[in-house]
Amino acid sequence: IDDKQAYKARIKTLLQQKDAVLVAHYYTDPEIQALAEETGGCVSDSLEMARFGNAHPAKTLIVAGVKFMGETAKILNPEKTVLMPTLEATCSLDLGCPADAFAAFCDAHPDRVVVVYANTSAAVKARADWVVTSSIALDVVEHLDSEGKKILWGPDRHLGAYVQTQTGADMVLWQGACIVHDEFKANALAELKKQYPDAAVLVHPESPANVVDLADAVGSTSQLIKASQTLPNSTFIVATDRGIFYKMQQAMPDKTFIEAPTGGNGATCRSCAHCPWMAMNGLQAIEAALTDTAGHEIFVDAALREQALVPLNRMLGFAK
Ligand code: 13P
Ligand code: SF4
Repeated sequence: IDDKQAYKARIKTLLQQKDAVLVAHYYTDPEIQALAEETGGCVSDSLEMARFGNAHPAKTLIVAGVKFMGETAKILNPEKTVLMPTLEATCSLDLGCPADAFAAFCDAHPDRVVVVYANTSAAVKARADWVVTSSIALDVVEHLDSEGKKILWGPDRHLGAYVQTQTGADMVLWQGACIVHDEFKANALAELKKQYPDAAVLVHPESPANVVDLADAVGSTSQLIKASQTLPNSTFIVATDRGIFYKMQQAMPDKTFIEAPTGGNGATCRSCAHCPWMAMNGLQAIEAALTDTAGHEIFVDAALREQALVPLNRMLGFAK
């Protein structure tokens, strides 16, 4: 614990010296989220992270999350230095959607508007007409559908199927998945619901459809936190990364939050739902990035950046 305090103190000094601000995702460990809050940074969902980094005057952004979040920050703020605790922190959706294969998929459907989830590389965004995060995916697709557009969606197949069901839009889907949310099990969740009949079930739409079907609220991380505050229930079963419990518990200290099961056969697996890449964002790595930027700085090819900026700005403009 003393060690952690020492790291935190050094990071606070470095943030000031380097005119840097810490931008963290809800899935990072509680101590990282607390540090971002204490130092005037932000803790939020991926859309708000992009907005915050864009609006903040600091010269350096240190992004505690996964690589696509750092890349998005750099695309939006090429004049800023964008650092990450580790460049190894990726995402299974990004890994499962290589730019060349995705471009071939788009080429095979030239009549479709290309909508990609933010959890993708700069090169995939560069091929897209729209970028969306889970908090505005429904609104954007609804809007495109109302204009009679047909959609090519990538990479998350569960989120894509959810959006398709909700909007009725004509969509073809890339078949990617999040290794964390894909593990939630509907049977075990239904069993757990029986044990807590008064609990509301909160589900991130990267989860399989049969898990989403059991939800009282479906949404992005920030939307799920909001639901935990606005629904009258005092107990919640939560199907998303356990990093989110920090914020939920902080906002609603008298409510009870239970992890949705990831084990099959009725077995519940506690603390399993945690993204291994989000977990890489430790205090030591943050200090290292602020001390020596080498190996921590995000660079995006200038031509790709220009192309990827177009669908990203469309998203930010739409979400206003
Ligand atoms: P949010 O946009 O809901 O924060 O989700 C990002 C993410 O990676 C979910 O797994
Ligand atoms: Fe990617 Fe899933 Fe991790 Fe989110 S939780 S960053 S979607 S692997």
